[in-house]
Amino acid sequence: MALPNRVKIVEVGPRDGLQNEKTIVPLAVKVELIDRLSATGLPMIESGAFVSPKWVPQMADTAEVLAAIQRRPDVGYPVLVPNTKGLEQAIASGVEEVAIFGAASEAFSAKNINCSIAESLERFRPVAEAALAQGIRVRGYVSCVLGCPYQGEVPVAEVARVSKALLDLGCYEISLGDTIGVGTAGKARALIERVSDSVPLEKLAVHFHDTYGQALANIHACLEAGVAVVDASVAGLGGCPYAKGASGNVATEDVVYLLNGLGIESGVDLKSLAATGAWISQALSRPNGSRTGNALAAA
Ligand code: HMG
Ligand code: MG
Repeated sequence: MALPNRVKIVEVGPRDGLQNEKTIVPLAVKVELIDRLSATGLPMIESGAFVSPKWVPQMADTAEVLAAIQRRPDVGYPVLVPNTKGLEQAIASGVEEVAIFGAASEAFSAKNINCSIAESLERFRPVAEAALAQGIRVRGYVSCVLGCPYQGEVPVAEVARVSKALLDLGCYEISLGDTIGVGTAGKARALIERVSDSVPLEKLAVHFHDTYGQALANIHACLEAGVAVVDASVAGLGGCPYAKGASGNVATEDVVYLLNGLGIESGVDLKSLAATGAWISQALSRPNGSRTGNALAAA
């Protein structure tokens, strides 16, 4: 299959990136990060999560973040919601899009959202219904699509089943999460081929963590398989608090560099994105996880 002409990048740094930081990131830093990212041409910036503050303390100030950012009309600022309580807070914050998040692994579902896969789908149903009734778009995540930190192998058929279930709940897009970054290109491609039997290709997104350094190769394989939506995190920030040892998402700068090289449009200005990656790495006193970001800074 020919590569897509255009790819939508969903920036998840302010949520997936920051949720795993051990010390609480100041509100002003979160707000500045989102505002800087908004100016790079990124169309979607996942900006927080209305989850239990006991489970993920770092996301406890999501309402304050949403109130303080400068929302641009051409940028989406989705947030995660695990249940109706989260949705109510999202609605009060005036969001236009939420994401519900399930898993293809029972063990991960239990650790991450404290319920079985079946229970999670039942819990998401009223969330999606209420969101859609208010004109709020719903995105769906499936975690552990290429492996689980607790149960190991995850059957592709289970990924397809959960993806289809989220689609049937009204999700406009399903993001397939390699939560612990164990996937390799051949498996990633086979995953897309199988899941696209159940969910149309144009509704699939890929979400690679880069634990084993395979994310860019996996993304390339998925682009070749027809996927045109890629999640990424500026400076490669992140990891999941309920997936021990999982490193950050693929760095957005590295994805943009790859796309630029392939002549695929993303609308993102690499220079301004790289400057944002350098800034947030410094603000968090952590090494910049983007190879492209580091190369551009040294050039
Ligand atoms: P629970 O303990 O089973 O929930 O947690 P509960 O309904 O029994 O409630 C317990 C307490 O939490 C109560 O408070 C509720 O009010 C409160 P208390 O009475 O004890 O004071 N509560 C909430 N507070 C704020 N917002 C809410 C909310 N809901 C309940 N929405 C629950 C179940 C789902 C809430 C919990 O497990 C949770 O919040 N989990 C979220 C975990 C998380 O955010 N993980 C990271 C995101 S997923 C990810 O990173 C993967 C992804 O990137 C894709 C990939 O890489 O694969 C998306
Ligand atoms: Mg993730």
